[in-house]
Amino acid sequence: MAEPSPVRCAVIGTKNIAAQHIPVLQALPEAEVAALCDIDPEAVEETSRRFGVAQTFTSLEELEAWGEFDAVYVLVSVLAVAEVAERFIRAGIPTFLEKPPGLYSSDTERLAEAVRETGTTAMVGLNRRFYSCLQAGREALLDTGDVVSVTVHADEVGTTHWEGPKFPPEVAMRWAYANSIHALDLLRYLGGDVANVTSLVRRRGLPKPDSFSALLEYESGAVGRAISEHFGPKGTGHFYEARTQRAVLTSRSGLSSCVLEARGREPVEFGLTGLDRRLKPGFPGESRAFLRAVQAGEAVSFPAPTLDDAVRTMKMIDGITGAEEWAPKPTS
Ligand SMILES: NC(=O)c1ccc[n+]([C@@H]2O[C@H](COP(=O)([O-])OP(=O)(O)OC[C@H]3O[C@@H](n4cnc5c(N)ncnc54)[C@H](O)[C@@H]3O)[C@@H](O)[C@H]2O)c1
Repeated sequence: MAEPSPVRCAVIGTKNIAAQHIPVLQALPEAEVAALCDIDPEAVEETSRRFGVAQTFTSLEELEAWGEFDAVYVLVSVLAVAEVAERFIRAGIPTFLEKPPGLYSSDTERLAEAVRETGTTAMVGLNRRFYSCLQAGREALLDTGDVVSVTVHADEVGTTHWEGPKFPPEVAMRWAYANSIHALDLLRYLGGDVANVTSLVRRRGLPKPDSFSALLEYESGAVGRAISEHFGPKGTGHFYEARTQRAVLTSRSGLSSCVLEARGREPVEFGLTGLDRRLKPGFPGESRAFLRAVQAGEAVSFPAPTLDDAVRTMKMIDGITGAEEWAPKPTS
């Protein structure tokens, strides 16, 4: 059977994280980077030169009028993701969205609704699920039985996002959604859907709640523990541990390896493999999942996060942080 044609991708938002996604798309046979679009002409020009992509646009309208693309990668500033993505989802154009899809669960629900109404293929970039070491480690863990507990630390260096110039205050307030979501989402990747969350929320190092300690009850009956403190020194960060009755899987070196220790067996270490070794880990796997779904004209499937899946992760984070109380969506 003939190979399907590469998916012609328009990359929207061409700065920081785009410089990690573009080399991945250029390395995958399933993709072609057809065009770049950014409202900042300098950003788009520099990225065009750096990655040799000639077709550029400085507005969504120009990009849409050109129209020679099959899918979009929405890699714009946090507060712009939901609006830009909804426009393309509603137009029926397969859409990859960087996280967080919306800064509020209600925004992500709106996007999920747009996908339900249109049937457009869409996927959220919760890329830790695609770390090759974690995928292999999770499979080996599940071979030892059902998961009975998951512990995740999603700690952050508080001052960089709070004091630095890059993030608007609204994003800094909801940093658990803007960044800690990467690790917190692993609670669901490793343990499944969550039925109940009980949390203690404190204010410690920042002038907002920044210490979250939660107990989770999974629908399976397993338990979860989520810890997220946003005032750590550099070098502390994201970590997971998942247990069956016979084994424990623990992340190492940031998240770039993990170790399975099972009763009566030598420990087994899982490292990054394939393109994860030279490109941003998780990005090759997540893009392959998205692009193959686009080629097949289907929705993405587990572990690829759909918008509905992202809503469930964000609602779990609502329970962990209580942020709907202290940082609700401003009424316009
Ligand atoms: N997966 C990860 O590990 C990871 C890491 C960093 C950032 N991110 C996510 O990627 C996204 C982008 O982050 P970044 O650090 O690259 O941001 P950035 O600020 O460096 O770049 C965003 C770009 O989007 C452009 N932009 C904003 N609104 C636009 C619009 N309406 N149309 C076209 N262009 C627009 C800006 O001009 C800017 O060039 C965010 O959602 C962020 O949360 C993900």
